[in-house]
Amino acid sequence: MDRPCLGAYTEPAVHEAISHIIRRYSTNRSDVRHEALQGIDLTGVARLLDLGCGFGFMVDALADALPPDSEIVGVDVHPTNREVFLTRAEAAAGSARFVCRRLDSHLDFPRRSFDAVIASYSLYYFPGVIPEVARVLKPDGLFLSLTHSESQFECLLEAIGFAPRQSEFRSVLLEFSAENGGAKLAEHFATVESRPYHNRLVFCPEDLDDFLALLRFKLPSLMPAQTFDPDRATQLLERARDLLMSSDHVIIEKDDTVFISKEPLSL
Ligand SMILES: C[S@@+](CC[C@H](N)C(=O)[O-])C[C@H]1O[C@@H](n2cnc3c(N)ncnc32)[C@H](O)[C@@H]1O
Repeated sequence: MDRPCLGAYTEPAVHEAISHIIRRYSTNRSDVRHEALQGIDLTGVARLLDLGCGFGFMVDALADALPPDSEIVGVDVHPTNREVFLTRAEAAAGSARFVCRRLDSHLDFPRRSFDAVIASYSLYYFPGVIPEVARVLKPDGLFLSLTHSESQFECLLEAIGFAPRQSEFRSVLLEFSAENGGAKLAEHFATVESRPYHNRLVFCPEDLDDFLALLRFKLPSLMPAQTFDPDRATQLLERARDLLMSSDHVIIEKDDTVFISKEPLSL
């Protein structure tokens, strides 16, 4: 089992297949992106910044929300995301730009230069950028961030003998999670609305192939980089298979939260 770079989706096709599995087995039938955009007016947005844009999963959902002459700027550390992101962003806005950069605690953009900023399942990789988002956002702009709950996948991991606390991804997630994200944002924005998105994935024995495909995708990001062990990964997959085949169904926790932050406190 190859170890993908932490935080990177491997291939667009693999990402699509995994997204499809997540949607198919979700108890929450509404799309998290539509929940995130519910009631938000983006018709006045001239420039939008997408941090950790990946393949443009989130800009895809903005297609009918942005004015036709708007510009989307995507930033991501992985150059391979450029092409797919630009195709999606150009379909959603008048123009698009991809900046290949590793984000940390600085943004190379002038103060008050964006009407909206989004960070969809990415802010936990670079939480130090939050004050900079407040700086580059216009006073009436909005910052939309999506993240996972710290409890995601917890019961399943326990059941197959992998302590969730050992998970490498969990230590990343603790940097900006559903549980602590609101407090981190409130240090830099006067208004922070939190929209919990409750969800579970439910798999039955006949869903084994999809269940294992999801876990195969997930496992490499759970194990500490220095100790990734293909034999252990195989053993965990075997335990997961045995668990599903001996149960009525297996439930995976998949709660997320959307944060909508306004009124940046930047000077
Ligand atoms: C889980 S993916 C989310 C992608 C996309 N926003 C979405 O919602 O599908 C996280 C993205 O953050 C990017 N990323 C991780 N660490 C980064 C960093 N320090 N600077 C810039 N991009 C980073 C990864 O390359 C990846 O595309």
